[in-house]
Amino acid sequence: MASSGKRLIDLRKGYPKSRNLPHTRLAEACRLSAARLDSASEEAFPLQYSSGLGTARFNERLAEFLRREYKSAVFADVVIMEEPSYFLAHKIFLDHGLRVLGAAIDEHGLDTDALAARFASGELASLQPKLLYLVPSHGNPSGATLPLRRRQHLVKLAEKHGFTVLCDDVYHLLDWSSSAKPLPRLLEFDSAFQGRASASAGRAQDVPKMDEDASYTIPKDAASDGKALSSLKEGHVVSIGSFTKILAPGLRLGWIEASGQLLSRIAKRGYIQSGGSVAPFASEIVSELLESGGQSEVLAQLRNDYSASQRAMCTALRAHPDCFSFEEPAGGFFIWCRLPEGVTTTGLLPIAERHGVVFLPGPMSAPGAPKERFESHLRLCFAYEEADAICEGVERLAAAVAEAHQELRPQKRVKTHEDDLYNAAIFRGKCHLSYPRKKKISIEVEKVTPEVSETASPTEQALGGAENKDSVVKGQSARRVVLTKFGRLPTTYDQNDPQVLKLLPSQWVPDIGLPLASGIGRGFFKRLKTGFKKGWRRQYVRPRFETWDVNDVPQFLLDCARQQGAEQAALVASSVGDTLARDVGWTVGSVVGAAWGLTRCLLGRSEDTAPDKGRVVVAGGYLESDKELLALEDYMREASQD
Ligand SMILES: Cc1ncc(COP(=O)(O)O)c(C=O)c1O
Repeated sequence: MASSGKRLIDLRKGYPKSRNLPHTRLAEACRLSAARLDSASEEAFPLQYSSGLGTARFNERLAEFLRREYKSAVFADVVIMEEPSYFLAHKIFLDHGLRVLGAAIDEHGLDTDALAARFASGELASLQPKLLYLVPSHGNPSGATLPLRRRQHLVKLAEKHGFTVLCDDVYHLLDWSSSAKPLPRLLEFDSAFQGRASASAGRAQDVPKMDEDASYTIPKDAASDGKALSSLKEGHVVSIGSFTKILAPGLRLGWIEASGQLLSRIAKRGYIQSGGSVAPFASEIVSELLESGGQSEVLAQLRNDYSASQRAMCTALRAHPDCFSFEEPAGGFFIWCRLPEGVTTTGLLPIAERHGVVFLPGPMSAPGAPKERFESHLRLCFAYEEADAICEGVERLAAAVAEAHQELRPQKRVKTHEDDLYNAAIFRGKCHLSYPRKKKISIEVEKVTPEVSETASPTEQALGGAENKDSVVKGQSARRVVLTKFGRLPTTYDQNDPQVLKLLPSQWVPDIGLPLASGIGRGFFKRLKTGFKKGWRRQYVRPRFETWDVNDVPQFLLDCARQQGAEQAALVASSVGDTLARDVGWTVGSVVGAAWGLTRCLLGRSEDTAPDKGRVVVAGGYLESDKELLALEDYMREASQD
């Protein structure tokens, strides 16, 4: 009431009159959207992130409506952010005309000692940074969580050097570390916040009330306002939280916590005053869930779900120690992986796409850093895909890494020490290469089972020194599995022995021709039956490497060959026969099997096939499934019984 007793006519507020607020219409809209929501379909009601330009449904209707209805100078303040960090935060800072500087992290997150050193050296102090942005709990992309000591240290640095720490605490609640209570947020070390928190921790009255008329009062002059502020305690930490990760990104709802002074400064921003609040509609809906306890239930379920996915991803990654190294996170969304020396993440991406998997290349998470800096890293998210897809994705990624690694090898091969070990390994294990067809061969000879005889060559001895602790697991090369699991007796034979090479050409007929014929013949007939059988059943395992036992060659021939230095020829010849025979056997078996199947079909007597039968299993360079591994084991068992 005005002092005269009349009702004050408010021509000041830019509000719509209450009777113009469309309560009934909005209620109806809510009911309709609730029905769409109820269908539990993303298509009917998207809760996922929509494109930055708005949701399709909304955009279409807005365009229709509009068609019908009508036809700096910016001071580059410095912001410091972890490097690597949430890549879109970097973009947001740039969009605001800020200058972004990177700060190093390690496996525990931001390296506060390195940061303090940069302040001490004057490098950062002279730039007077205003803000330091970080994701202290289960970082994006690092997955790292800043330890207690570093949290305290960082707040002290902020107080000392006068910058604000902007903590993106979006993953803070998504924590499944063994400790019952997650680490305190950095905000809890802010002395300005501590006073406020101890007075009224977590109570409703702690939520600052805004004077709705405040935006209409003429501000005091800046100097007196500044004096008033400086007498109060200014905090140095702002914590931002979001319902994005714990409820739904489509809500676009979050919250800010800070000391009273910082909060009131935020509340005075024109942006906030103009809208009254950022997202009142969404917050009304979410408040229902907060009140009913629904949000806590969702959170508990998300923790269970994501922790299982994270464990699945770590187990899958650990099966490929040659491809990935990483720190296991205990929360959040991401794992930050390191690739083997020489494999670049941007080079890997198109190969991975061909294998049917994608990831975020390392340099994307550090747009301000030189590209090479994070070229050996990639970010994997375990929150989006289901656990079985995660495992499959990691397998595909490992195959892509192996391919990228192969491509790194020089085209024209120069004989290396590894080649020596490789050759020795082949002959030590009495193994040879089968036709590699179009695929390349993966060689990891240092893992071969060591069994060194006294007369072993230097390369064999080198091999023998390497310990083999590998178990047979998915993703290993077929060759490695064969050598480690089924490795044969060692021989003292060294194919690099120049004596052998010297003898070969001069003794062609008796020394090579005989073992050659015998090898091919023997191998052929020995394997023909097996090949036929396998082809018939259409379960053919053709590992890149096939073993060959010296005992398959008649002793007299071996003695003869050995004397004449042609054992190598005997080995090779026999194994060629072996491979040929299996191929021929398999082809004949397949053709006959298929013809037989067709005949039975035509005669109306279809075969009763179990789901596992009737599938060709081919172990290529890598064993990609348990099934292939089992098939390979069967094959090896049968081969050794032959
Ligand atoms: C560290 C970090 N901050 C913020 C966001 C986005 O949060 P919001 O959807 O609440 O804007 C993400 C999403 O990936 C994130 O990883």
